[in-house]
Amino acid sequence: MPGLVFTAALTGFATAVLYLVIARFKVYARLKHIPGPFWAPWSDIWLLRAQLSGRMNFILYDANMKYGKVGPKWVACGDGEALRKIGGVRSGWQRSFWYRGLRIDPYRDNAFSTLDDEVHEKLRAKLLPGYGGKDVDNLHQLIDEQVAGLVSLLEDKYLSTKTEFKPVDLARKVQYFTLDVISALAFGKEFGYLKADADLFGYIETTESTLPIMLATAFMPWFLKIMQSPRFKWLIPNAREMVGIGNVMGLAQDAVAERYGDNPVVKRDMLGSFVAHGLSKEDAEGETVVQIIAGSDTSATAIRSTLLFIMTSPLVYNRLQAEIDAGVEEGRISSPITDAEARELPYLQAVIREGLRMWPPATAALPKVSDRDQVVCGVHIPAGTNVAWVPWTIMRSKETFGPDADLFRPERWLDISPAQYRAMDQTVMMEFASGSRWECLGKTVAQIELNKAYVELLRRFDFTLLDPTNPWKSFNAAVFIQSDMNVMVTRREV
Ligand code: HEM
Repeated sequence: MPGLVFTAALTGFATAVLYLVIARFKVYARLKHIPGPFWAPWSDIWLLRAQLSGRMNFILYDANMKYGKVGPKWVACGDGEALRKIGGVRSGWQRSFWYRGLRIDPYRDNAFSTLDDEVHEKLRAKLLPGYGGKDVDNLHQLIDEQVAGLVSLLEDKYLSTKTEFKPVDLARKVQYFTLDVISALAFGKEFGYLKADADLFGYIETTESTLPIMLATAFMPWFLKIMQSPRFKWLIPNAREMVGIGNVMGLAQDAVAERYGDNPVVKRDMLGSFVAHGLSKEDAEGETVVQIIAGSDTSATAIRSTLLFIMTSPLVYNRLQAEIDAGVEEGRISSPITDAEARELPYLQAVIREGLRMWPPATAALPKVSDRDQVVCGVHIPAGTNVAWVPWTIMRSKETFGPDADLFRPERWLDISPAQYRAMDQTVMMEFASGSRWECLGKTVAQIELNKAYVELLRRFDFTLLDPTNPWKSFNAAVFIQSDMNVMVTRREV
C-alpha cells in the first residue's frame, strides 16, 4: 500500500513538472523568433534582477542593442517611431498590467495605474486644465518662490569663500526644491524642505527604500493580484501608516477635505481646478499624492544630471553663462527669469534638451500590450506581449542625433534645419511620453522648473564638482535615487 501511495505521488509530481516544462516551452515558442539573453525567455527573474540591480536603464540599453526579447512575454523597443505608433489613438495598444504596480492605494487606481483607456481619458480630462496651469492663478509665482528658496539656501548656508569651505550635496538640495515646488502646487503651501534643509517626516528616506521594491513587484502580476486583493488586506502594510508616505497621504487628505463638503473652500489652484472639473474626493486625494511622487524625483534628476553635464563640460558651462550674462545685461532676463524669457534663450533651450537626452529621468519599463497580434519594427509580436520602451537607446540614436550622439553637445540643437530640429525635439519630448495618450501631465510644470533653475543658479553662483571621478551616487529604480553630488558653491565675480 505505501508503495502505491509513493508511486501515485511520484506520478503526480512528474506530471506537474512535465506540465510546467511544457507550459514554459509554449511561452518560449511565442517569441522564439526574437533573440534575447540566455535566461530571459524562461522566467521573469532576469527582469526582476535587472530592476533590483539599480542599473535597469543600462541593462535594458545593453540588451536592446543586441537583442529584442527581455522576458518570457517581454520585448524591449528602442525605436522612437515604432513607439509613437504604439502610443497613437486606436493603435490597439494599452497599458499592460505592470502599471497596476504603480497603485499607491492598493485598492484604488490613479492616473498612472489606470489601465482602461476610456476611464483614463475621462480622468485626464479632469486633471489636464489644472496641470496645464490654465485654471491656476499663481503657478509661475509659486515656482519662483521655490527657486528663490533654493538660491537662499545655498547663499545662506553653503557659500564657500577663500577662507571657508562648505561643500554641499547638490542632489539633495535639488530634491528639496522639486518637493517644495510640487507640494506648493498640490497643496497651496510648500512642505518647507528648503527652509528646514532636512528630509521632513523621512519622506525621502522612505520613498528611496520602498520605490525599488514597489517597481519590482510590478514585474510580478501574480504577486500584485494578491497584494491588491481586499481578501489579503491583513497581509499588506498600510501605506497610510508608513513614515513619510503616510504623512504625505495625511496632508493630502487634509488639503482635499476642506475643498469638499457643505462649505467647501474654493481656490483657483491646481486642486481647485481638479474639483471644478468634477474629480471625486477620493480621486483628488490619490492624485495629489501621485503628483508628489511623479513630479519630484523626475524633475530633480533632470536638474541634477544636466548640472553635472554642464559642470563637466567647460565649453558648455562658459557659453551658457555668457548667454545668461548677456541676457541680464541687455534686460532680456528679469529677476527671476520668466518662462517666456527663458524660451527665447537658444543656448539654454539647447542645454535643457541635451541634458534630458543624455540622462532620461523617467526610465521605467512603461510596457504596452495588445490583445491582438501586431507587427513592431517589422517583427511579429504575439498578442499579450509586453513591449517596454528603452529611453537610453532612443535618446542615443545616431540616426536622429548624429554620429556623436553619445556626447553631451548642446550645439547639435543650433544651426540646423527646422525639420531636423523638429525630429530631434519630438524624440526628446518622448521622455514626457509626448505624442501618446499617456503624455506626462506635469510636463508644463517640469519645463517651467527647468527654464528657471539653471539661469537663477548660474547667474549668481559657480559650481565646482568635488570629485569628478566619482561625481554622485545614482541608483536606477525606474526613477533615479541620487545623492552625494558634492559640489563647492562660490559667488560669481562678475
Ligand atoms: C523631467 C520631468 C518629468 C519627466 C521626464 C516625466 C515623465 C513622465 C512619463 C514618461 C510619463 C508617462 C508614463 C506612461 O507612459 O504611462 C509621465 C506621466 C505622468 N507624469 Fe510626469 N514626468 C516629469 C515630471 C512630472 C511632474 C513635475 C509632474 C507633476 C506635476 C508629473 C506628473 C505626471 C503624471 C500625473 C503622469 C500620469 C499621466 C497619465 O497617466 O495620464 N510628471 N511622466
